[in-house]
Amino acid sequence: MDGANGRTVDSRPADSTDERTPETGEVVVVHYSRTGTTAQVAADVTAALEAGAGTDSGEQVDPRTERIDPRRERSYWNWLARSFVPGSRVSIRPVDIDLRDVRAVFLGTPKWTLSCPPVTEFCRRVTFDETPVGVFLTYGGFDEERYARSLAATLRDRGADVRATLLVQRDEVGSGSYHDQVERFCERVLF
Ligand SMILES: Cc1cc2nc3c(=O)[nH]c(=O)nc-3n(C[C@H](O)[C@H](O)[C@H](O)COP(=O)(O)O)c2cc1C
Repeated sequence: MDGANGRTVDSRPADSTDERTPETGEVVVVHYSRTGTTAQVAADVTAALEAGAGTDSGEQVDPRTERIDPRRERSYWNWLARSFVPGSRVSIRPVDIDLRDVRAVFLGTPKWTLSCPPVTEFCRRVTFDETPVGVFLTYGGFDEERYARSLAATLRDRGADVRATLLVQRDEVGSGSYHDQVERFCERVLF
């Protein structure tokens, strides 16, 4: 644990090689957010990358940003019921990027009970080719670590090299050491 205002967890498995991320290719920030919290973290990750976080020379990165959008909105109670079903998914608008061939991917999601259906569907659709990935997750207050581990395992099954996870409680976005945590998270994924 790195501090109170967000935690950056090094997610590399013990047997991973310490290869550096190639400094070319697109960096993608993709997220789902229902009430704006994860969207704010996505904006802060994007700003940190634009300011040169995670690059040797402070080289500025111009990330491509994408939203995961369900085709249909639902009520809170509808989402809540779906979130209790492990692996539940809903139809989403196409996200047209080949994530096998990019420099790195930052994927953001709220923590929903057992499944956040738009993100679960996104994960089912994409494949990676040892692509460096950072997962950022916002949550209300409980069970976030188990959820983050499970999501990282799913992404590894899809071919991702999950390098770091940033866990941010929704009340802590923007406060205390939060911006340092975001920067450190970017560094762990890109470097
Ligand atoms: C359907 C649903 C399920 C949730 N389940 C959890 C949960 O199990 N644990 C938790 O800490 N927060 C839970 N939350 C709270 C969200 O993770 C938190 O508010 C998050 O920051 C929302 O992100 P967003 O504003 O980007 O949608 C849940 C929220 C919703 C809507």
